[in-house]
Amino acid sequence: MKYLLQKAVKERYVVGAFNFHGLEAAQGIIRGAANKKSPVIAMMPAAAIPHMGEKTVAGMISGIAGDYGVTAALHLDHSTSYDLCRRCIDSGFTSVMIDASSREFNENVDITATVVEYAARAGCTVEAELGHVTGHEDDINVDDHQSLFTDPDDVVKFVAATGIDALAIAVGTVHGFYKSTPKLDFDRIAAIRAVSSIPLVLHGGTGIPDADLRKAAALGINKINVGTELRVNGFFRVMKRECAAAAEENPLKITASVREACTAIVEEKIEVFGCAGKA
Ligand code: G3H
Ligand code: ZN
Repeated sequence: MKYLLQKAVKERYVVGAFNFHGLEAAQGIIRGAANKKSPVIAMMPAAAIPHMGEKTVAGMISGIAGDYGVTAALHLDHSTSYDLCRRCIDSGFTSVMIDASSREFNENVDITATVVEYAARAGCTVEAELGHVTGHEDDINVDDHQSLFTDPDDVVKFVAATGIDALAIAVGTVHGFYKSTPKLDFDRIAAIRAVSSIPLVLHGGTGIPDADLRKAAALGINKINVGTELRVNGFFRVMKRECAAAAEENPLKITASVREACTAIVEEKIEVFGCAGKA
Protein backbone atom coordinates (compact mmCIF):
# COMPACT_ATOMS: atom_id res chain seq x y z
CA MET A 1 0.00 0.00 0.00
CA LYS A 2 2.91 2.30 0.80
CA TYR A 3 4.13 2.08 -2.80
CA LEU A 4 0.67 2.91 -4.20
CA LEU A 5 0.27 5.86 -1.84
CA GLN A 6 3.72 7.35 -2.25
CA LYS A 7 3.13 7.58 -6.01
CA ALA A 8 -0.21 9.25 -5.26
CA VAL A 9 1.51 11.83 -3.03
CA LYS A 10 3.99 12.69 -5.79
CA GLU A 11 1.37 12.94 -8.52
CA ARG A 12 -1.42 14.45 -6.32
CA TYR A 13 -4.27 11.98 -6.71
CA VAL A 14 -6.29 9.65 -4.49
CA VAL A 15 -6.18 5.85 -4.49
CA GLY A 16 -9.65 4.44 -3.82
CA ALA A 17 -9.95 2.18 -0.78
CA PHE A 18 -13.10 0.09 -0.63
CA ASN A 19 -14.58 -2.12 2.10
CA PHE A 20 -15.73 -5.63 1.25
CA HIS A 21 -17.32 -8.32 3.38
CA GLY A 22 -17.26 -11.23 0.95
CA LEU A 23 -16.33 -12.56 -2.46
CA GLU A 24 -18.63 -10.68 -4.84
CA ALA A 25 -17.93 -7.22 -3.45
CA ALA A 26 -14.19 -7.96 -3.54
CA GLN A 27 -14.51 -9.03 -7.18
CA GLY A 28 -16.46 -5.87 -7.96
CA ILE A 29 -13.76 -3.70 -6.37
CA ILE A 30 -10.89 -5.33 -8.25
CA ARG A 31 -12.82 -5.59 -11.51
CA GLY A 32 -13.72 -1.88 -11.31
CA ALA A 33 -10.03 -1.07 -10.87
CA ALA A 34 -9.07 -3.34 -13.79
CA ASN A 35 -11.62 -1.67 -16.08
CA LYS A 36 -10.20 1.76 -15.18
CA LYS A 37 -6.53 0.66 -15.20
CA SER A 38 -6.29 1.93 -11.65
CA PRO A 39 -4.47 0.87 -8.50
CA VAL A 40 -6.86 -0.12 -5.72
CA ILE A 41 -6.97 -0.90 -2.02
CA ALA A 42 -9.36 -3.67 -0.97
CA MET A 43 -10.19 -3.29 2.72
CA MET A 44 -11.56 -5.90 5.06
CA PRO A 45 -13.15 -4.34 8.16
CA ALA A 46 -11.68 -5.81 11.36
CA ALA A 47 -15.17 -6.87 12.45
CA ALA A 48 -15.52 -9.10 9.38
CA ILE A 49 -12.35 -11.12 9.99
CA PRO A 50 -13.97 -13.58 12.46
CA HIS A 51 -16.58 -14.37 9.77
CA MET A 52 -14.14 -14.83 6.89
CA GLY A 53 -10.81 -15.84 8.43
CA GLU A 54 -7.68 -13.84 7.63
CA LYS A 55 -6.01 -16.60 5.61
CA THR A 56 -9.13 -17.08 3.48
CA VAL A 57 -9.27 -13.34 2.80
CA ALA A 58 -5.58 -13.10 1.88
CA GLY A 59 -5.82 -16.06 -0.51
CA MET A 60 -9.05 -14.77 -2.02
CA ILE A 61 -7.74 -11.28 -2.80
CA SER A 62 -4.50 -12.58 -4.21
CA GLY A 63 -6.53 -14.91 -6.47
CA ILE A 64 -8.91 -12.18 -7.67
CA ALA A 65 -6.08 -9.70 -8.31
CA GLY A 66 -4.30 -12.40 -10.33
CA ASP A 67 -7.44 -13.18 -12.35
CA TYR A 68 -7.95 -9.53 -13.26
CA GLY A 69 -4.24 -8.62 -13.53
CA VAL A 70 -4.53 -5.70 -11.12
CA THR A 71 -2.14 -4.14 -8.61
CA ALA A 72 -4.18 -4.38 -5.43
CA ALA A 73 -3.30 -3.83 -1.79
CA LEU A 74 -5.10 -5.84 0.87
CA HIS A 75 -5.75 -3.73 3.95
CA LEU A 76 -7.08 -4.52 7.42
CA ASP A 77 -9.41 -1.63 8.27
CA HIS A 78 -9.98 -0.18 11.76
CA SER A 79 -8.29 -2.75 13.93
CA THR A 80 -8.15 -1.72 17.57
CA SER A 81 -6.22 -4.89 18.35
CA TYR A 82 -2.47 -5.45 18.07
CA ASP A 83 -3.05 -9.23 17.94
CA LEU A 84 -5.43 -8.98 15.00
CA CYS A 85 -2.91 -6.79 13.13
CA ARG A 86 -0.20 -9.37 13.82
CA ARG A 87 -2.36 -12.26 12.54
CA CYS A 88 -3.26 -10.38 9.36
CA ILE A 89 0.38 -9.38 8.75
CA ASP A 90 1.41 -13.02 9.18
CA SER A 91 -1.32 -14.08 6.73
CA GLY A 92 -0.11 -11.81 3.94
CA PHE A 93 -2.12 -8.58 4.26
CA THR A 94 -0.08 -5.82 2.61
CA SER A 95 -1.25 -3.19 5.11
CA VAL A 96 -3.06 -2.76 8.38
CA MET A 97 -4.74 0.12 10.16
CA ILE A 98 -4.20 0.22 13.90
CA ASP A 99 -6.94 2.48 15.19
CA ALA A 100 -6.12 3.79 18.65
CA SER A 101 -7.67 7.16 17.83
CA SER A 102 -10.06 7.07 20.78
CA ARG A 103 -7.07 6.87 23.17
CA GLU A 104 -4.93 9.67 24.56
CA PHE A 105 -2.13 10.92 22.27
CA ASN A 106 0.68 9.07 24.11
CA GLU A 107 -1.26 5.81 24.28
CA ASN A 108 -2.09 6.11 20.59
CA VAL A 109 1.65 6.58 19.89
CA ASP A 110 2.66 3.55 22.00
CA ILE A 111 0.12 1.11 20.51
CA THR A 112 0.78 2.31 16.97
CA ALA A 113 4.56 2.11 17.32
CA THR A 114 4.28 -1.50 18.51
CA VAL A 115 2.35 -2.45 15.37
CA VAL A 116 4.82 -0.55 13.15
CA GLU A 117 7.71 -2.48 14.67
CA TYR A 118 6.05 -5.84 13.97
CA ALA A 119 4.86 -4.86 10.48
CA ALA A 120 8.33 -3.66 9.43
CA ARG A 121 9.68 -7.21 9.60
CA ALA A 122 7.14 -8.30 6.98
CA GLY A 123 7.39 -5.17 4.83
CA CYS A 124 3.77 -4.40 5.69
CA THR A 125 2.39 -0.84 5.54
CA VAL A 126 0.77 0.71 8.63
CA GLU A 127 -1.97 3.36 8.76
CA ALA A 128 -2.98 5.03 12.01
CA GLU A 129 -5.47 7.74 12.94
CA LEU A 130 -4.88 11.02 14.75
CA GLY A 131 -7.95 12.95 15.87
CA HIS A 132 -11.09 10.84 15.65
CA VAL A 133 -13.54 10.20 12.80
CA THR A 134 -16.86 9.50 14.48
CA GLY A 135 -19.74 7.29 13.37
CA HIS A 136 -23.18 8.55 12.33
CA GLU A 137 -24.53 6.80 15.41
CA ASP A 138 -22.43 8.97 17.74
CA ASP A 139 -24.80 11.55 19.12
CA ILE A 140 -22.44 14.47 19.61
CA ASN A 141 -22.84 18.17 18.90
CA VAL A 142 -20.86 20.23 16.40
CA ASP A 143 -18.44 21.70 18.97
CA ASP A 144 -17.57 18.26 20.36
CA HIS A 145 -17.24 16.99 16.84
CA GLN A 146 -14.75 19.71 15.97
CA SER A 147 -12.72 19.10 19.09
CA LEU A 148 -11.96 15.66 17.65
CA PHE A 149 -10.48 17.10 14.44
CA THR A 150 -6.77 16.45 13.80
CA ASP A 151 -4.50 19.18 15.13
CA PRO A 152 -1.84 19.99 12.49
CA ASP A 153 0.62 20.76 15.32
CA ASP A 154 0.45 17.12 16.49
CA VAL A 155 0.99 15.56 13.08
CA VAL A 156 4.78 15.83 12.75
CA LYS A 157 5.26 14.61 16.33
CA PHE A 158 2.91 11.64 15.81
CA VAL A 159 4.44 10.56 12.50
CA ALA A 160 8.00 10.78 13.87
CA ALA A 161 7.16 8.98 17.11
CA THR A 162 5.33 6.09 15.46
CA GLY A 163 7.06 5.55 12.10
CA ILE A 164 3.71 5.04 10.30
CA ASP A 165 3.34 5.03 6.51
CA ALA A 166 -0.11 6.66 6.19
CA LEU A 167 -2.15 8.94 8.43
CA ALA A 168 -5.94 9.09 8.73
CA ILE A 169 -7.11 12.57 9.67
CA ALA A 170 -10.37 13.90 11.09
CA VAL A 171 -11.52 16.93 9.10
CA GLY A 172 -15.33 16.76 9.17
CA THR A 173 -16.24 13.42 7.63
CA VAL A 174 -18.14 10.72 9.55
CA HIS A 175 -18.74 7.03 8.96
CA GLY A 176 -22.05 6.07 7.33
CA PHE A 177 -24.70 8.06 5.46
CA TYR A 178 -24.88 11.77 6.35
CA LYS A 179 -27.97 13.26 7.99
CA SER A 180 -27.11 16.70 6.62
CA THR A 181 -24.62 18.00 4.05
CA PRO A 182 -21.08 17.24 5.23
CA LYS A 183 -18.79 20.23 5.84
CA LEU A 184 -15.16 19.42 5.29
CA ASP A 185 -12.49 21.59 6.87
CA PHE A 186 -10.43 22.16 3.73
CA ASP A 187 -8.09 24.66 5.42
CA ARG A 188 -7.17 21.96 7.90
CA ILE A 189 -6.34 19.50 5.12
CA ALA A 190 -4.06 22.12 3.54
CA ALA A 191 -2.47 22.93 6.90
CA ILE A 192 -1.72 19.26 7.58
CA ARG A 193 -0.32 18.74 4.08
CA ALA A 194 1.90 21.80 4.58
CA VAL A 195 3.66 20.25 7.59
CA SER A 196 4.08 16.66 6.37
CA SER A 197 4.57 14.64 3.19
CA ILE A 198 3.02 11.48 4.67
CA PRO A 199 0.16 9.94 2.63
CA LEU A 200 -3.09 11.32 4.08
CA VAL A 201 -6.26 9.27 4.43
CA LEU A 202 -9.88 10.46 4.48
CA HIS A 203 -12.35 8.08 6.11
CA GLY A 204 -16.12 8.25 5.67
CA GLY A 205 -16.12 8.65 1.88
CA THR A 206 -19.78 7.68 1.41
CA GLY A 207 -22.09 10.60 0.63
CA ILE A 208 -19.47 13.32 0.17
CA PRO A 209 -20.25 15.38 -2.94
CA ASP A 210 -17.90 14.72 -5.86
CA ALA A 211 -16.73 18.35 -5.93
CA ASP A 212 -15.60 18.05 -2.28
CA LEU A 213 -13.81 14.77 -2.98
CA ARG A 214 -11.96 16.41 -5.87
CA LYS A 215 -11.03 19.40 -3.73
CA ALA A 216 -9.75 17.12 -0.95
CA ALA A 217 -7.61 15.29 -3.53
CA ALA A 218 -6.23 18.56 -4.88
CA LEU A 219 -5.30 19.69 -1.37
CA GLY A 220 -3.31 16.55 -0.63
CA ILE A 221 -5.55 13.62 0.41
CA ASN A 222 -4.16 10.37 -1.06
CA LYS A 223 -6.52 7.59 0.07
CA ILE A 224 -10.28 7.83 0.46
CA ASN A 225 -12.19 5.05 2.22
CA VAL A 226 -15.62 4.09 0.94
CA GLY A 227 -17.66 1.49 2.81
CA THR A 228 -21.36 2.15 3.41
CA GLU A 229 -22.15 2.88 -0.22
CA LEU A 230 -20.86 -0.54 -1.29
CA ARG A 231 -22.42 -2.36 1.63
CA VAL A 232 -25.86 -0.82 1.25
CA ASN A 233 -26.20 0.15 -2.43
CA GLY A 234 -23.83 -2.46 -3.86
CA PHE A 235 -24.79 -5.45 -1.72
CA PHE A 236 -27.97 -5.18 0.41
CA ARG A 237 -30.33 -3.42 -1.93
CA VAL A 238 -29.23 -5.53 -4.90
CA MET A 239 -29.51 -8.78 -2.93
CA LYS A 240 -33.00 -7.90 -1.72
CA ARG A 241 -34.18 -6.91 -5.19
CA GLU A 242 -32.65 -9.92 -6.95
CA CYS A 243 -33.82 -12.46 -4.37
CA ALA A 244 -37.37 -11.10 -4.52
CA ALA A 245 -37.36 -11.19 -8.31
CA ALA A 246 -35.57 -14.54 -8.77
CA ALA A 247 -37.65 -16.82 -10.97
CA GLU A 248 -35.30 -19.77 -10.60
CA GLU A 249 -32.96 -20.96 -7.90
CA ASN A 250 -29.78 -19.81 -9.59
CA PRO A 251 -27.40 -18.10 -7.14
CA LEU A 252 -25.02 -17.13 -9.93
CA LYS A 253 -27.50 -14.59 -11.31
CA ILE A 254 -27.84 -12.98 -7.89
CA THR A 255 -24.12 -12.86 -7.15
CA ALA A 256 -23.41 -11.52 -10.64
CA SER A 257 -25.73 -8.58 -9.95
CA VAL A 258 -23.91 -7.75 -6.71
CA ARG A 259 -20.59 -7.88 -8.54
CA GLU A 260 -21.94 -5.59 -11.28
CA ALA A 261 -23.31 -3.04 -8.80
CA CYS A 262 -20.06 -2.92 -6.83
CA THR A 263 -18.03 -2.60 -10.04
CA ALA A 264 -20.13 0.40 -11.11
CA ILE A 265 -19.73 2.20 -7.75
CA VAL A 266 -15.96 1.65 -7.77
CA GLU A 267 -15.56 2.82 -11.39
CA GLU A 268 -17.44 6.01 -10.61
CA LYS A 269 -15.30 6.78 -7.54
CA ILE A 270 -12.06 6.04 -9.40
CA GLU A 271 -12.95 8.70 -11.99
CA VAL A 272 -13.60 11.26 -9.23
CA PHE A 273 -10.42 10.33 -7.32
CA GLY A 274 -8.22 10.83 -10.37
CA CYS A 275 -6.55 7.41 -10.20
CA ALA A 276 -7.89 6.04 -13.51
CA GLY A 277 -4.93 5.06 -15.72
CA LYS A 278 -2.48 5.18 -12.78
CA ALA A 279 -1.99 1.41 -12.42
O1 G3H B 1 -12.88 2.81 7.03
C1 G3H B 1 -13.90 2.82 6.32
C2 G3H B 1 -14.45 4.04 5.79
O2 G3H B 1 -14.09 5.13 6.55
C3 G3H B 1 -15.85 3.93 5.34
O3 G3H B 1 -16.67 5.06 5.58
O4 G3H B 1 -18.79 3.79 5.35
O5 G3H B 1 -18.78 6.26 5.51
O6 G3H B 1 -17.95 5.16 3.45
P1 G3H B 1 -18.13 5.07 4.92
ZN1 ZN C 1 -13.10 4.43 8.51
